[in-house]
Amino acid sequence: MGGNSVDIYVVLGYLFIAFLLMAGVLILFFYFSRKKIIQKEIEKKILEINHQKELLRSVILTQEAERKRIAQDLHDDISSKLNVVSLNTHLLKTPNLSDDEILEITDNITGLTQKALESSRRIAHDLLPPVLEKFGLNAGIEELIVEVTSSKTVKVNYLNELKFQFEDTERHLHIFRVLQELLNNSIRHGKATEVSIRFSKINDIETCTYSDNGKGFDTSNNESQKGLGMKNIESRISFLNGTFSIFSKVNEGVKVIFTF
Ligand SMILES: Nc1ncnc2c1ncn2[C@@H]1O[C@H](COP(=O)(O)OP(=O)(O)O)[C@@H](O)[C@H]1O
Ligand SMILES: [Mg+2]
Repeated sequence: MGGNSVDIYVVLGYLFIAFLLMAGVLILFFYFSRKKIIQKEIEKKILEINHQKELLRSVILTQEAERKRIAQDLHDDISSKLNVVSLNTHLLKTPNLSDDEILEITDNITGLTQKALESSRRIAHDLLPPVLEKFGLNAGIEELIVEVTSSKTVKVNYLNELKFQFEDTERHLHIFRVLQELLNNSIRHGKATEVSIRFSKINDIETCTYSDNGKGFDTSNNESQKGLGMKNIESRISFLNGTFSIFSKVNEGVKVIFTF
């Protein structure tokens, strides 16, 4: 009888130890898997932050490049001409000028002033197309297309099923710049002869579908060497809380879908 009860205690003791071991294993398992999950999440956050940093860097770099370009334009196209105008005006003060000389000098002055005016209009237009502010995004895109197709050998099919709200100028400027960059890339890199731009609602989200028939490129190995242009597009779309996807293969053109 006594031996039996000792057996029960031994069995209970073993059961208890087994239970403790199991609980320990379970606790350890949960602890480590939780740690792993947290670590994964931290890694994801770090990647996100690095991506944001990269975007910010590209915004700053582009801004600097733009400033450099504007400074160069101002210097080459305006300051240099105004300098000559100023020289000519001083020349007019020279005593005993003949009528012919005066005519030549004033012709010079009017010609150069005219050119400086045209340049300043062009520079201002490049910075912010006036039609965009005056007549909205649709008109701005139409003008952009006319400009692109008049000077280059590319045809653009444009279809807009959306109604852009007039007050949304800031958002529209981003969309305009994105299309400007996409068109530039299609012409410069893709040597495309046909581009199609379409605005429509897909699943009730305002979407732009863009495609060209150019050379295309390998998107898989391009991820790490995206240029400033693409990064800028990404940061503009992220300002708009939209999504951006690009699909391309060598010799199969480029297709871009973005929402905003
Ligand atoms: N429409 C396109 N057709 C062919 N290649 C393209 C196109 N768009 C982009 N690319 C490729 O992607 C690269 C990155 O483009 P981008 O970021 O605009 O930089 P960038 O224009 O300054 O080179 C380009 O150098 C080009 O190789
Ligand atoms: Mg580019």
